[in-house]
Amino acid sequence: MLVKAGSGLATFGISSSAGVPESVAGDTIVLPLNDEAAMEAAINKHKDDLAAVIIEPVPANNGLLLQDKSYLEFLRDITRKHNVLLIFDEVISGFRIGFTGAAGFYGIKPDILTYGKIIGGGMPVGAYGASAAIMQKISPDGNVYQGGTLSGNPVAMAAGIATLTECLKKDFYESLEKKTNTFTGILNSFAKENNLPFKVFSIGSIFWFAFSEKEKIQRADEIDSESMTKFNTLYHELLDHGIYFGPSGYEVGFISDAHTEEILSDAAKGICGMLKKTFAGSSPLRID
Ligand SMILES: Cc1ncc(COP(=O)(O)O)c(C=O)c1O
Repeated sequence: MLVKAGSGLATFGISSSAGVPESVAGDTIVLPLNDEAAMEAAINKHKDDLAAVIIEPVPANNGLLLQDKSYLEFLRDITRKHNVLLIFDEVISGFRIGFTGAAGFYGIKPDILTYGKIIGGGMPVGAYGASAAIMQKISPDGNVYQGGTLSGNPVAMAAGIATLTECLKKDFYESLEKKTNTFTGILNSFAKENNLPFKVFSIGSIFWFAFSEKEKIQRADEIDSESMTKFNTLYHELLDHGIYFGPSGYEVGFISDAHTEEILSDAAKGICGMLKKTFAGSSPLRID
């Protein structure tokens, strides 16, 4: 979403990328996460014009900003009350925190769900789902045309089905979560024992390294941008030791079924040593 908040709460957005027309940005309102009052103000002001509220229920595009279940329930209640659709963007969270994603995890039923990534098993796929009443609006049943060159591409569909078939095998998610917990547990215990301002946040198979002592980080402005210099140092240490992370401290990481317990505990123990070096400042700071 290439629109950022306007000057005040509940005002229309401004584009954050060249190429997004003002008219498109002007149809979008951007609100801070975890702020019920901001949502109430926006809905009260614009309810007759709002098509939908869209949120990543597990915001994972700017750190891992785990929301309280009560906030997501609040969104469900207020949208239902005002006849506004609720869309869960599960492009990242889908199939990563259980087969039914964040919606299943939190027990909240949005009106529309979007998926990508895992659902294509590595092939380029995007998908959406909704109730029969909403899906009837899509052609050929309804008058909303949607299609494209690669829509329903057979190779991508086969890859997606093969991946989802693996995900449905017995204990797949239990095993994935156990592996994730082993990995994050080693790192969190080490940080605690050594008094390092470092914490791994995780949910399902998604994890994020926060260079912070905060118990919760739920909004982008709660991330200390200075802490990213620590990530940059650690990133290069990791790379030198054959551990490849996303090249930004704002990126989350994912545990895959292909990661064995052994690989993960070796990696975690290695990272502990590198963390110590990172905080001791003994490795030279490299600027990306
Ligand atoms: C949460 C989220 N939603 C949507 C998208 C965009 O998906 P697509 O590339 O299918 O448009 C991304 C892309 O990475 C994403 O991370």
